Formats: sequence, structure tokens, C-alpha cells
Amino acid sequence: MSRLIVISNRVSVPTADQPGTQGGLAVALTAALREADGIWFGWSGETGETGDLKFASYDGVTSATIDLPEQDVEEYYDGYANRTLWPLFHYRLDLAEFERDFQGGYERVNRVFGDVIGPHILPDDLIWVHDYHMIPLGWVLRQRGLTNRLGFFLHIPWPPTRLMTALPQHRRLVEALFAYDVLGFQSDEWLETFHDYVVREMDGSIGENGQVTVGGRTIRAIACPIGIDAQEFVASASSPSAIATHGRMVESSIGRSLIVGVDRLDYSKGLEERFNGYRRYLETRPDAHANVYLLQIAPPSRATVQNYQDIRAQLDALSGRINGAFADIDWVPLRYVNQGFPRDVLAGVYRAARVGLVTPLRDGMNLVAKEYIASQNPEDPGVLILSQFAGAASQLSNALLVNPYSPDDIADAIERALAMSLEERIARWKPMFENVRDQDVIWWRKRFTNSLMRV
Ligand code: G6P
Repeated sequence: MSRLIVISNRVSVPTADQPGTQGGLAVALTAALREADGIWFGWSGETGETGDLKFASYDGVTSATIDLPEQDVEEYYDGYANRTLWPLFHYRLDLAEFERDFQGGYERVNRVFGDVIGPHILPDDLIWVHDYHMIPLGWVLRQRGLTNRLGFFLHIPWPPTRLMTALPQHRRLVEALFAYDVLGFQSDEWLETFHDYVVREMDGSIGENGQVTVGGRTIRAIACPIGIDAQEFVASASSPSAIATHGRMVESSIGRSLIVGVDRLDYSKGLEERFNGYRRYLETRPDAHANVYLLQIAPPSRATVQNYQDIRAQLDALSGRINGAFADIDWVPLRYVNQGFPRDVLAGVYRAARVGLVTPLRDGMNLVAKEYIASQNPEDPGVLILSQFAGAASQLSNALLVNPYSPDDIADAIERALAMSLEERIARWKPMFENVRDQDVIWWRKRFTNSLMRV
């Protein structure tokens, strides 16, 4: 049996200190690594001289990480990954920064990864590279003579061609993708925009069965939506910790309906627009005051990048203004919390929430939407309000889909969700739950690796 090699910027394997705190992706990949005797390579998250790979094994899973010098972190991670590609791929050309040093650092670090990982690859290994930090890595590995089956999965959107062409040397980046044998995208939409680039900019052609050909080289590009570890999540929702959290939420809401949002503090998540939509709801429905509250959980992210500091400051101010304008002596309309919580606590919060408010401006998939669905009580489920611009919208089409840029749309959807009959809530929730349960993270992993194995 071939080994599975996973490569991504962040490595998330269980350790003796943190045995059970991983997210769904990590759970799915570590399970596969355990079965296939694999290794997960990536950055340690630490700054320091790049030395040898540090191997660690815990609970049958091996990880191998390197430290990166400060300049590399600044140019590769903060710079090209998070100040160039992330905003551009999320349609935010206004926030994207184009610096030659960033591109140089990005390519250099990808070469370093290729250098340190290459010698540990065996001829029959299946190699699976993840996300925008590592686009050129496949090309680097091929340059080093590797003939293994190589797959790449993009967790974020693929931008429209006209935005992509604003990236200096965009073609160089996309050409590197043709070193892989299989490319995975979160949705048909991102796959189609990729096709569009290939046809317009590379004179390529799209064939049967996901085949994409450019200059004599044919690869496969597929839509392969990621899921959550649904079984685990359903179990978490009835764990003692979730039940305790649920009780705490019910008690602290004294009969009011809870609307919940949970997002990394990122401008792509549309938090400002969400708060403005909620404010519109409060402004235009004074009768509803004191019957609802919004709990927004938003753990800070990428805090060394200016745009993230800006969005945090804006949200601090906006949440203060909303509470200042609408709160009463015994009611706060918005609880805004800047910290993360373990999965079982979140499951309890989701289950207590009458409404899940998930309104990214652009999102590759959005797993919070799926977690919210998985956590509901089947006999009395809440209502999901979901952005039409999240990858998840095509699978979760029974949600109340909204335009996240429109405060009126958000306000109307909140009103509709809170008034929805039990019958309609169940009718909407059930097919979404079935989708979340059936197309879970294991399904996703198998779909991708099967397609890679067929190469
Ligand atoms: C997104 C990306 C991931 C990334 C995660 C957290 O989900 O697709 O690749 O790991 O955000 O961001 P961070 O920069 O903290 O790794």
C-alpha cells in the first residue's frame, strides 16, 4: 500500500500536550495518515534558523516540521500568502499588496520545503499538498526528479480571471499547478473560474472527466467539497460539556432567542456587514428588542498583518456603537467575544442558537455552517442564514440564502428565521443535515485520494 504524505503550511497533529483539540480537517487527515503510515510535513509555526526537519510521533501519526527565519515568515506567510494571495483570491483587490520581495520569499520558502521534504519521499508515496501557501511546491518537487502522484487541494476560492491577471507573474503561479496530477477545488464555481483562466490565459482546453490540457500536459481538476467530521460533531453536541454549555446559554438568555456567529476574525467573513445587518434589524423592528441577542465569537487571526489589526479595531468600535445605541439596563444586544472555544462547547452554543448567522463576503467553503447544522436538535432545529457567496451555499441550499453586502437582506432573513414554524425549520434542516452527514470529511478525503490513486 502507498504511504500518504500530507504537506501544508500548518501542521495539526495530536500531541501529548494537546491530544484531542484538532479541527475536522486534521481529524480526517490524521486518520488517513495513521492508516497509511504517512507523514504530515509543514511549518512549525516557530521563527528560527531553518535546520533539519523535526520529527514527532504521537498516537500512530508522524509529523515533520521546520522553523522558518523571520524574514521568510514576513515575506512568505505574512506577505505573499496573507497580504497578496489571500485578499486577491477572496476578491479583495483593494486589500492585495504586490511586492516583489513577497513573491521572492514565497518561492524561496517553497524551494526550501522541497529541499527538506524531497529526501524523505519514497517512490510509491501519494503526495497531497494543501492550500495557497504551497502552490509551487509540486513544481519544485518535480524539478528534484520526483515522479510520484501529486495532488493539490485549494481550500479557498479561485478568483475570476480578470482579478487574477492583476497579480504580477500570475501565469508563473498557475503554470506551477500543472506539475500536479490532480487539482481539487471546493465548489463547481471555483472550478469553473479556474477553467476560464486556463482557456483565456493559457490557451488550454477542458476535456471529459475533469481533464485540463495546457501545452501537451493533461491533468485532472475536480470539485471536491470539504466536509466536517459529522459523526464526531453530532456526538459532541450531546456531550456533557455541550449539555452544560447549552444550559448556561439558556439560563443567560432568559427567554431571548440567540443568534450566533462564529468566525476567525478575518475581513473575508463579512463581520462588519453582519453587524450592520443586525443593526438594521434592531433599528427597523423596535418591538423585537429585548427578545433576541447576537453572540459573535471571533478569535483573532494573523494579528501581525495590518489589515487584520484594522478589521479588529473597526469591529471593536462598531460593536460598542451598537450596544451603546440599543442596550437597555437589563439587555445587551450584541455579545462580542474575541476568543476561541473547544468543539464541544461550540456544539452546545450552536444547539442553543435559534439562528446560525454565517455571512462571509467570500469563502472557499465555510465549515461553521456545516457545524451549526450538525449540532441541531432534530426535533427542534434552528435556522441557518447563509451567504450566497460561501462555497457551502451550493450544498446547503435549504438555508435562508442572503446577500451579505445588503443590511436589509440580513435584517429580513433574521426576522424570517425567528418567525419560522417548526414544520418549515425541520423541512429545511433535514436535507441539509443529510448532506452534512453523508458528504463528510472522510467522504471528501476518499474522493480526492481515490482520484489521485487512479492517476
Ligand atoms: C484558512 C486557510 C487555511 C489556514 C486557516 C487559518 O482556513 O484555508 O490554510 O490554515 O485559514 O489561518 P492561519 O493563517 O492561522 O493558518
